[in-house]
Amino acid sequence: MSFVINVAIHASQFPEKVRRDLLKSLRTRRVNHKFHYDSVKQTQKWLALHQAYSPTRNDADCRAMYENGFKAAADQIKTKSVHVIGLGCGGGQKDTRLLKLLKMAGREIFYMPCDVSMAMVLTASRTALAVIPEKNCFPLVCDLATTDGLSDILVTRHPSLVTFFGMIPNFEPQIILPKLASLVQPKDFLLFSANLAPGKNYAIGVKKVLTQYDNPLTRGWLMTFLLDLGVERDDGDLGFKIEDDPATDLKRIVAGFHFTRSRRIEVDHETFYFRAGETIRLFFSYRYTPEHVRKVLARFGLEVCDQWIAKSEEEGVFLVRRSGVSEERR
Ligand SMILES: C[S@@+](CC[C@H](N)C(=O)[O-])C[C@H]1O[C@@H](n2cnc3c(N)ncnc32)[C@H](O)[C@@H]1O
Repeated sequence: MSFVINVAIHASQFPEKVRRDLLKSLRTRRVNHKFHYDSVKQTQKWLALHQAYSPTRNDADCRAMYENGFKAAADQIKTKSVHVIGLGCGGGQKDTRLLKLLKMAGREIFYMPCDVSMAMVLTASRTALAVIPEKNCFPLVCDLATTDGLSDILVTRHPSLVTFFGMIPNFEPQIILPKLASLVQPKDFLLFSANLAPGKNYAIGVKKVLTQYDNPLTRGWLMTFLLDLGVERDDGDLGFKIEDDPATDLKRIVAGFHFTRSRRIEVDHETFYFRAGETIRLFFSYRYTPEHVRKVLARFGLEVCDQWIAKSEEEGVFLVRRSGVSEERR
């Protein structure tokens, strides 16, 4: 592996845009979740927490569920070459397992790890280079939520296999799904995973998973954003609660920092006052049921062709195509 990796950076992550997004997060008291992956320190903290708590790392059944989804996708692709686009690739561990299967099936693979975080994109590229040659890897730093015309930037050839693992919980579906749908053309496949609410009763299922968010590694990761801006740990308390999202019929787990004393911080010549009693939202995570996933994707012209649900019912993988494509083939 060479000591230089070429990374493309889209304008959505140029410094002046990132600065505007940061100021907006502070003004509105709603932190864009991309700011939790910004620095190398935050990326390392997230990777450590993922290693400690992610069912894909610690639950053999959940790993097998992903493997089954990967095998099904690899079996469906009959062309000699395939373009894998890893949206929000993180450390690239899941994408690389998929790349391995495609390689074993004799496909020539091109891989575009795409993430808002440079550190994640580099980590994913290095992970993937164990499987594919450097000339077939095209890392891209890009903010998926604010980029229009994603299909012009990301997809040059078909068939593409787009992956969107663990991403949907952290985006408002009405913002991200039109962009995702624009990428999936009739010859393409989408592998999508979501964190689910287990059991038959949705509200009880969401309550059951609430405690999973409140642990020292997650707290440390989320607080890094505020501490790096000059907020002090004793300025307030970090709390987790369940919220009904009025724009959808979904529930989400929300983490907020509630100030118990006033704090003044300066960012880029702008002063922000947080008064005692105010709360800044740091993070949210929607929980879906498999039915919610089907319905919400269908609204944007995407159809679930197959699905694999973990025994815990807390995570699912969905193989998706453009609506109508699987009908035409029958
Ligand atoms: C929960 S992690 C999922 C990582 C990986 N897909 C997995 O399943 O292990 C979310 C990822 O989305 C990235 N991300 C967050 N906001 C983003 C945005 N607006 N555009 C692109 N990537 C984003 C983060 O940097 C992080 O790598």
